[in-house]
This record gives sequence, C-alpha cells and structure tokens, in this order.
Amino acid sequence: MKRYIMILAACTVLSSLAWAQDGAALYGTKCAGCHGAAGQGKIGPSLQTTSLNQQQIAALLTNGAAGKKAPHTKGIASLTPDQVTTISTYVVSLKK
Ligand code: HEC
Repeated sequence: MKRYIMILAACTVLSSLAWAQDGAALYGTKCAGCHGAAGQGKIGPSLQTTSLNQQQIAALLTNGAAGKKAPHTKGIASLTPDQVTTISTYVVSLKK
C-alpha cells in the first residue's frame, strides 16, 4: 500500500512537470503553423495582440465560434480538455 502511494505521488509530480512544458510543445505542433512560432501571426491573426482572455481562447478551441473562419468554425477535435487548458494558458503568456 505504501509503495502504491509512493508511485502515485511520483506520477503526480511527473505529470505536473510535463504539463508545464506541454504548452509550448503543443502550441508548436497545433498552432504555430498558422499563428507563428511566437504567436506573431501568419495565415492566422496575431495572438500576441488578441483581446481574448484565457477562458475565451479555451472556449474557442473547445467549441469554435460562430462566424469564425476555419479551423475555428468548430472546436479542435484533436485536443483533450487538459490540452485546451494548457494551450490557452500558454497563448495568454505570448501576449504583448
Ligand atoms: C489552419 C490554420 C490555423 C490553425 C492550425 C490554428 N488557427 Fe487559430 N486562427 C486561424 C484563423 C484563420 C483565425 C481567424 C479566424 C476568424 O477570425 O475568422 C484564427 C483565430 C484564432 C483566435 C482568435 C484570435 C482573435 O483575436 O479573435 C485564436 C485565439 C486562435 N486562433 C488560437 C489558435 C490556437 C491556440 C491554435 C492551436 C490549437 C490555433 N488557433 C490553430 C487559423 C488557424
């Protein structure tokens, strides 16, 4: 039982470390192609100057938004809810 708790604790620590790194990595593979490596904008608009806050970005990634162009007409299906939180937090950190 004790060992089980130790393993569980180790996993929790490891997964929170992974979480911290994931934002940049996920952004790099899922978003940078359109929004630029630093969020400066490319095919898609700059995210450094977006007026959206973290919750609004998370909502856009989860549900999409009416009137938005592809790929944001609907949510990005390949993202889990955790990844949406991680990426949207990272995107806010890119703001100037
Ligand atoms: C295929 C290109 C493409 C990809 C991939 C993409 N976007 Fe976008 N994004 C766009 C375009 C184009 C718009 C503008 C849509 C509009 O306003 O109609 C946009 C708009 C946005 C906006 C709204 C900006 C604002 O100020 O209104 C946010 C936030 C955003 N994208 C975040 C992301 C994130 C985070 C990812 C990665 C998970 C991502 N996008 C992936 C092309 C892309």
